[in-house]
Amino acid sequence: MNSTNILIPNHVAIILDGNGRWAKERGLKRTEGHREGYKTLKKISKYILHKGTKYLSVFAFSTENFNRPKEEVDYLMNLFIKGFKNDTWYFNKENIRVVFSGRKEKLSKEVLEAMDIMEKDTLNNTGGILNICLNYGGRAEIVDAVNKIIKDKKESITEEEFKKYLYQDLPDIDLMIRTSGEIRISNFMLWQLSYTELYFPNCYFPDFLEEEYDKALTEYTKRERRFGGLKNE
Ligand code: FPP
Repeated sequence: MNSTNILIPNHVAIILDGNGRWAKERGLKRTEGHREGYKTLKKISKYILHKGTKYLSVFAFSTENFNRPKEEVDYLMNLFIKGFKNDTWYFNKENIRVVFSGRKEKLSKEVLEAMDIMEKDTLNNTGGILNICLNYGGRAEIVDAVNKIIKDKKESITEEEFKKYLYQDLPDIDLMIRTSGEIRISNFMLWQLSYTELYFPNCYFPDFLEEEYDKALTEYTKRERRFGGLKNE
């Protein structure tokens, strides 16, 4: 298809699923899958944001992921620490601003410091926003917003005002991709997904590279978005 006919979504979201299975199929430890997943995340976030998408949200660690074996949780936390501390140069080179969504509690001082470094060092980048959801839950985000509203002693609130109480003030998601063939939302960005087009490729996240994303865009371009209205004849 002629690339000029391809629609570029403003906000893309990805559930990074299948790292464990990717590793298992290769006789590797699950943690190797997460390491490879991070490599893919760096490549694909650059590709997506450089194509003109302004916001990319990714589900890196759910509140429930703390229930995984300690070895795996520790590995992921160390990957976050190393990645956020050592790779600010990469996101700066690619002009990508990194922000985070999720609850701070339960995250160690080291992880929080590394997140802070990444956020501050990339603050002035203008080539797109990578929103990393870490210790994140969609219901938790809504409940946390409601608690902030109660603290602000508001009596009533509009949808537009409510949005400002979420972890980040982001536009609605246009395209949500979950890799690995699982067809579930799993408590990801429930508010922002209300009118999103969903896409579920069969490949595991470490294999979700440029070619796979182009397939997602081709499919997205074919979708007819109606937002609850009538077809535009
Ligand atoms: C789900 O796959 C994936 C995760 C719980 C972790 C995702 C994290 C990354 C890709 C690394 C991101 C790194 C940084 C620094 C942001 P799974 O393990 O549930 O796979 P499975 O369903 O095949 O077991």
